[in-house]
Amino acid sequence: MNWIVVNDEKEMAKAGADFLLSRIINKPELLLGLATGSTPVGMYRLMIEAYRKGEADFSRVRTYNLDEYYPILKSDVNSYVRFMRKNLFDHINIPRENTHLPNGEAKDGEAEAKAYEAMIAEVGYMDVQLLGIGQNGHIGFNEPDDKLCVNTHVTALTENTVAANARFFDSPDCVPKHALTMGIGTIMKAKEILLLANGKNKHAAIEALKDDTVTTAIPATLLKLHPNVTIVCDKAAFEG
Ligand code: PGA
Repeated sequence: MNWIVVNDEKEMAKAGADFLLSRIINKPELLLGLATGSTPVGMYRLMIEAYRKGEADFSRVRTYNLDEYYPILKSDVNSYVRFMRKNLFDHINIPRENTHLPNGEAKDGEAEAKAYEAMIAEVGYMDVQLLGIGQNGHIGFNEPDDKLCVNTHVTALTENTVAANARFFDSPDCVPKHALTMGIGTIMKAKEILLLANGKNKHAAIEALKDDTVTTAIPATLLKLHPNVTIVCDKAAFEG
């Protein structure tokens, strides 16, 4: 794993944006796995700025998001499709048809999960997958468990994740209890992985990435088995 430890959230956003923009310059038709949550918002803002300055072209990039709540209406303010439009897609020149998320409105969640995996397999998996990390070490919505799913699937959110995400909702009761998420295998088949983390509350999860062990109890530790992972984290996440 390549570690880049920076001073704060702002520097994390800059390092993350530089990383992704350099990959897009090298390969304009990049297959890019994207993530939601608070962590990448500053980085997305810098990517928008780069586009506005004429330094970035997203017209051929194809994006595939990690996950989406299930079930959820696309029009719901908390849907990840709304999040992506608001925080990135509506402000850059990526054609709407090049952006993909699991469909939270699908009638049959399992069928949607299979179709999403098949679509990703068809294009040959991601060139670069962006990840955040949960306080409990989840990646996407692959929550700590005895067993983890390899492929895209419907999953129940843990209490910890529901509590962590409640800040975006009127109350914890309003947080959807299920999600569609890429599996650990979907993520691991990316050629390159960029994980971003900031803040003291991510320290325990980041600490677990430093030693030589893996455990499904902290799903992000499985990234140690991947040959090309870069972690950009701030001092608070790295040192606690
Ligand atoms: P956050 O979520 O960026 O909102 O902290 C990250 C995650 O849960 O993967």
